[in-house]
Amino acid sequence: MSFELHGAVAVVTGAGSGIGRASARAFARRGARVVVTDLDGARAQAVADELGEFGAASISAACDVTDLDDLQFVRDLALERFGRVDLVMNNVGILAVGPAEDIPLEAWQRVIDVNLLSVVRSNLVFLPLLLEQGAGHVVNTASTAGLLPYGFDRLPYTATKHAVVGLSEALALYLRPRGVGVSCLCPAGVATNIVEQMTFYGKPAPPKGPRFPVVDAESVGELVADGVSENRFLLLTAQEAADELRELGADVDMYLSRLIKDTR
Ligand SMILES: NC(=O)c1ccc[n+]([C@@H]2O[C@H](COP(=O)([O-])OP(=O)(O)OC[C@H]3O[C@@H](n4cnc5c(N)ncnc54)[C@H](O)[C@@H]3O)[C@@H](O)[C@H]2O)c1
Repeated sequence: MSFELHGAVAVVTGAGSGIGRASARAFARRGARVVVTDLDGARAQAVADELGEFGAASISAACDVTDLDDLQFVRDLALERFGRVDLVMNNVGILAVGPAEDIPLEAWQRVIDVNLLSVVRSNLVFLPLLLEQGAGHVVNTASTAGLLPYGFDRLPYTATKHAVVGLSEALALYLRPRGVGVSCLCPAGVATNIVEQMTFYGKPAPPKGPRFPVVDAESVGELVADGVSENRFLLLTAQEAADELRELGADVDMYLSRLIKDTR
């Protein structure tokens, strides 16, 4: 099963910046019509304007992924303007950063609402369309923090990204036999505006360098577009993460001991 981006209609959330913007650009470069959505409607509009350079018709909408009505509005807009939706990229993520004992319950609830329940809302809104078509593709943006236990100072992020990976795997089992592909993007460091999405609590941890190589957003957009076209599930920006996954799978206790020793 492969997916033809040329002529497809793609909805991308959080597409006003970073990975979402780069993915929207990569989809448009391959001839997709993109519905660029973001909490910040002006940013979304600026990206939709940029996509004009690729010749494909693109539109924008302000959309808060914590609001079911906003997602329904985006679906209706896409149907009205383009008549269909083929590709949905659930891309928004925020972080609450700090020691486990200092991150308040409200911050946990907010991160769960944005990072995890946004995907649940999107499924409720868009899956009926894709299932009826018997064709399409869903991309969920998780993180290497959803595969490996390294984000100990950002537990709500780690927990929700693990949940997005698990949800995506199970969704692939359900959707693939019904003609709908699923990809799970698990980037390591990417140069974006992600720091804007961080809220800090308690005493800051001593700064540490990136665990894996940091890449630019544009290359991640290309990775996503290739992964969708080839119907690949796991999209990694750092192959080192795959090696660590194997190490984790071979012996979790040994892996955790090694990480604790390395981070001392
Ligand atoms: N940058 C990284 O190093 C990195 C690594 C792994 C995973 N990720 C994931 O990639 C995704 C995109 O992050 P990015 O790095 O491109 O960040 P970014 O800050 O550059 O872009 C995020 C966009 O999401 C929008 N947004 C925030 N809250 C929203 C909401 N409630 N509804 C709709 N839009 C909202 C923001 O306005 C912003 O335009 C996130 O899920 C993040 O967890 C990023």
